[in-house]
Amino acid sequence: NHFPVIAIDGPSASGKGTVAQLVASKLGFNYLDSGALYRIVAFAAQQDNIPWSDALAVTACTKTLKIEFINEQVLLNNQDVSNEIRTEEIGKGASQVAVHAPLRAALVDMQHSFCKAPGLIADGRDMGTVIFPEAELKVFLTASTETRALRRYKQLQGKNQPANYEHILQDLTERDARDKGRASAPLLMADDAILLETDNVGISDAVDYILQKYQILQ
Ligand code: C5P
Repeated sequence: NHFPVIAIDGPSASGKGTVAQLVASKLGFNYLDSGALYRIVAFAAQQDNIPWSDALAVTACTKTLKIEFINEQVLLNNQDVSNEIRTEEIGKGASQVAVHAPLRAALVDMQHSFCKAPGLIADGRDMGTVIFPEAELKVFLTASTETRALRRYKQLQGKNQPANYEHILQDLTERDARDKGRASAPLLMADDAILLETDNVGISDAVDYILQKYQILQ
């Protein structure tokens, strides 16, 4: 029972979440937001006063969590934490817990369980390299740090949240370095992935491009 997988990897604020969800809805496929898993772990650890640096305690805590994705909601132990996990602080925590190899191992089966009929769009950092190496199509979606910082800045402004471009740029640079530099499943373009640089490409063009690449394979 193998179902088609499209792996979409790339750095923070590359637009891959939006693009991946649109591709999933166009194809009627399931959608895995793997970053949300690391965010939930960071959030749960914080609630239990477990430092994000403590690999064993973070991993042990993760094994007790009940995590569900229902419609657009992310549920942790039956509570909707969709908004709580989207803060910049939890994003930073997610990239800190994500360096721990035992934690990453503890999340593998759950990620595989998303691969159901009729297929899956998997969004993350290591979808094409580690979690779904057999994916039919692998896309590495990226943009310059400046473009991504500007997008994040506008996004926060749009939500009337405090936003400082220089801070965002620095945070993104640090998070990129941590995601690329870690020993376990670093952010890396798979050898067989297609590179899609979105500095001058809009969301709908990126979506169309991926759909076209997928249709060629059919
Ligand atoms: O994509 P998002 O910003 O929600 O991911 C938060 C953090 O989770 C990333 O900075 C990264 O460190 C980690 N992550 C990961 N592997 C994935 C998805 C996310 O390590 N597949």
